[in-house]
Amino acid sequence: MTDTPVQPDHVLADDELDERAPPIEVKGLKSQYGTQVIHEGLDLTVRHGEVLGVVGGSGTGKSVLLNTIIGLKRPDGGTVKIFGQDIEHASRKKWTAIERRWGVLFQAGALFSSLTVRENVAAPLYEHTDLSKKQIDELADLKIALSGLPPGAGAKKPAELSGGMRKRAGLARALALDPELLFLDEPTAGLDPIGAAAFDELIHDLSDSLDLTVFMITHDLDSLYSITDRIAVLADKQIVAVAPVAELEQSDHPWIQEYFLGPRGRAATKALSKKPSRRKKS
Ligand SMILES: Nc1ncnc2c1ncn2[C@@H]1O[C@H](COP(=O)(O)OP(=O)(O)O)[C@@H](O)[C@H]1O
Ligand SMILES: [Mg+2]
Repeated sequence: MTDTPVQPDHVLADDELDERAPPIEVKGLKSQYGTQVIHEGLDLTVRHGEVLGVVGGSGTGKSVLLNTIIGLKRPDGGTVKIFGQDIEHASRKKWTAIERRWGVLFQAGALFSSLTVRENVAAPLYEHTDLSKKQIDELADLKIALSGLPPGAGAKKPAELSGGMRKRAGLARALALDPELLFLDEPTAGLDPIGAAAFDELIHDLSDSLDLTVFMITHDLDSLYSITDRIAVLADKQIVAVAPVAELEQSDHPWIQEYFLGPRGRAATKALSKKPSRRKKS
């Protein structure tokens, strides 16, 4: 595996992306709101097939980074490439091709409250495919089951579900278009520890079986220790380290030290040493 971009050996068609390029490549990113600079010279390359955990103090710009990568906020400097394509200079066709390849589970879930779970999951399928209603309903039910929801959940409105089930419904919608790239913003925040562990397990299993690349913002140390391949640390407006957790523990950056080697970090390490690692690579 390499971080160097590979040049395609043929000219890509309008709706084609370079499958050999890294799924996400951010270089020299600057982000700001008014005079507040959130990111400055931020670099990050996400490798194919990895589960990348993104951590950083509250308000350091983790969600802004996600929003910038998926094109909801324009970079104020630098570049964001998805499968080799600079998103700022993507044609409409290219952009549609990019959008089809990712699924996003936002921090607040962002389901349409007036629609049933099945209708929520079906929405991206209506937008991006020409499938019939029957096919779309079948696919939606498949994603609902894949996300570990009981069969009756599809007919329910989000408000009728528990917090954990709503997260799963959001995940089902994020998976609607069979994405290669999955973005998760604090997916286990607000869940009880058992619900959070079950959700982690689901993400781990799906990333393996569906060959997903996962960009997961989290401050759940258990998630970080049990399912991530590498962790990117956002501090001082940049990604100050990207490494597997064991390597990060060796870092002398003060925030990393405090975070991973403080009492909570030590508890998570201890818990993990008692159970077999679920990480694919270590
Ligand atoms: N739409 C916005 N307008 C102005 N400031 C924003 C906006 N979104 C985020 N910010 C600011 O950017 C900083 C980073 O926010 P965010 O990425 O949400 O942090 P977190 O790392 O907790 O996810 C915060 O100081 C926040 O106030
Ligand atoms: Mg956030």
